[in-house]
Amino acid sequence: MSLSVLISASEAVPFIKSGGLADVIGVLPRYLRRLGHDVRLVLPRYYGIDKTKFGLKPLAGVLVVPMGGAGDEYCAVYEGSLPDSDIPVYFLEHEGYFGRSGLYAENNVEYADNDRRFIFLSKGSLELCKMLDFFPDLVHANDWHTAAIPLLLNTTYRHDSHVGGAASLLTIHNMQYQGSFPPATMEILGVGWEHFTFLGVEKDDRVNLLKGGIYNATLLNTVSEGYAAEIQTPAQGWGLEGVLRERNRDLFGILNGVDYTEWSPESDPYITANYSAGDLGGKGLCKADVQKEMGLPQRGDVPLIGMVGRMVTQKGIDVFAEALPRLLELELQIVMLGEGEPWAHFYFGGMAASHRDRLSVCVGYDNGLAHRIEAGADFFLMPSAFEPCGLNQMYSLRYGTIPIVRGVGGLDDSVENFDENLLAGTGFKFHDLTAGALFDTVGWALHTWYNRREGIDRLRQRGMAVRFTWEGAAEKYDRLYKMALKRRSGASSDTPPRATRQ
Ligand code: ADP
Ligand code: GLC
Repeated sequence: MSLSVLISASEAVPFIKSGGLADVIGVLPRYLRRLGHDVRLVLPRYYGIDKTKFGLKPLAGVLVVPMGGAGDEYCAVYEGSLPDSDIPVYFLEHEGYFGRSGLYAENNVEYADNDRRFIFLSKGSLELCKMLDFFPDLVHANDWHTAAIPLLLNTTYRHDSHVGGAASLLTIHNMQYQGSFPPATMEILGVGWEHFTFLGVEKDDRVNLLKGGIYNATLLNTVSEGYAAEIQTPAQGWGLEGVLRERNRDLFGILNGVDYTEWSPESDPYITANYSAGDLGGKGLCKADVQKEMGLPQRGDVPLIGMVGRMVTQKGIDVFAEALPRLLELELQIVMLGEGEPWAHFYFGGMAASHRDRLSVCVGYDNGLAHRIEAGADFFLMPSAFEPCGLNQMYSLRYGTIPIVRGVGGLDDSVENFDENLLAGTGFKFHDLTAGALFDTVGWALHTWYNRREGIDRLRQRGMAVRFTWEGAAEKYDRLYKMALKRRSGASSDTPPRATRQ
């Protein structure tokens, strides 16, 4: 059965990216399309999205978006497509909301009107269906930015000519960010105050858009099975564990796939030399080159550890910072690429300046360098405090770069711990979020490097053979979509709006 699906999100490659959400949204639709679905994507037209480069064309007419007490707002809609596909992508162009240099924040300060900006995106996505005369069977929302959609579908848009019958799926890519705003945000949402309750969008006397989405979506999923279980506990639920437990029959885990057209050492255009599991010769050249690029001594014998990612507490950089002085006493090299919290830029930059032969840090965002680190490094470190899925450890496996990870969420699901006796596994794992555990595990990896090379070779070969395909993940989404539709059609017409459509 082919379905009509509207996916609404705040970022997608190749148009705009701040993290893994963009990787997922830019690729999943392609595989859903291959399954025969009519998939369409809605994004904000941020200032950073170049209309000429992506060949975006304006649609005729103006989109009217009712913004509750704030009255109607208007925007232009531009149409493009995911490159090399027939998947339409619609961009809502509102200069006041999206004509800014940042996506969510500037200079580490969140925009004060993020509630308006993303409620506008959520409502605009639904209004757009009228403009396109599109009747989605299901609307797929992602993270807090579009989590208002399930609530809106259950209330304001319940009897809408185009989306009134649609089921909804909310994918949670990260529980930490919930879209929490003052009660006045209710006016912008434009739904009745009866929804500002414990069993609705209210949390700690504030509007919590993610919570509203969790209560109202027909079905829910996160981006790994491990994380789906973890977020139902106080340690990882960020205060919403109770709500998630209430809905746990409707909550699923689907591990993200990897876009192997972008991340494969055999064909990667960003790296110095291509290589494969059968011929790893090029990997040594990639290592020498990334050492040169990052200003480290070009030594093949010393293990090179790579790190790429947002420098924020989620990624365990505080624990890494604590372990770093001891790590730098070992015979190793570390390259880091990322940006995030200012203290981290300062601290890691300072440590690099005083350990030039061992540590090199690039503060910034550089896709090409991210590829070259994946290819050139021997190990890839991800000591995350929590990790809904995590993509870099999956890229690392493909590049023969052995992951050293904390066993949480998607990291735990995608990396198998090294077994010294059987020489099995795909990486090194630790569990305690402490500098000691991190240090010991890097020590274990280094010991293996220096003393048990056959272990390294086996880990590499096994990792390079693993695949996390989008074909597989898309089939699981396909099943969830169909399950959601069944739930939706089974719902009686007088289901109370805040209740889930089961
Ligand atoms: P998250 O979405 O939590 O940031 P993921 O592991 O899911 O983490 O995805 C991060 C994505 O962003 C990966 O594709 C990674 O390569 C990329 N990335 C993160 N930081 C940088 C950076 N500084 N430069 C280039 N790419 C980066
Ligand atoms: C989030 C998570 C990350 C996940 C990504 C894509 O940003 O932090 O773990 O891989 O979303 O789902």
